[in-house]
Amino acid sequence: MIGRLNHVAIAVPDLEAACKTYRETLGATVSEPMDQPDHGVTVVFIELPNTKIELLHPLGEGSPIAGFLDKNPSGGMHHVCYEVDDIIAARDRLKEQGARVLGDGEPKTGAHGKPVLFLHPKDFCGTLVELEQA
Ligand code: CO
Repeated sequence: MIGRLNHVAIAVPDLEAACKTYRETLGATVSEPMDQPDHGVTVVFIELPNTKIELLHPLGEGSPIAGFLDKNPSGGMHHVCYEVDDIIAARDRLKEQGARVLGDGEPKTGAHGKPVLFLHPKDFCGTLVELEQA
């Protein structure tokens, strides 16, 4: 059911320092920061030949990654995003198998303007999983 790895998201406490690490130390192509107030994050995209890395930094009050950074003060891998062809079919199949879909279970528009859902980390090997309709 799942297809390509769309991105790996990394929560970072210092966005500028993280951009410098990826741009200068690792020699990657790093975008300008983009505020996504609906998601409570500022995002930087790093384009790799076969996937993307997203650096996430909290934006505003009640950011969904603020708690993660409290527990992981130097940052850490926040989620992986897999592509699916049909997000509703994927959701229904996962729910039938007992997987927990976060929030109200309805897809939201993600960072790339496509429908996304998040799945409970306890059901997926301790990793928060995002599904994106490709
Ligand atoms: Co993501």
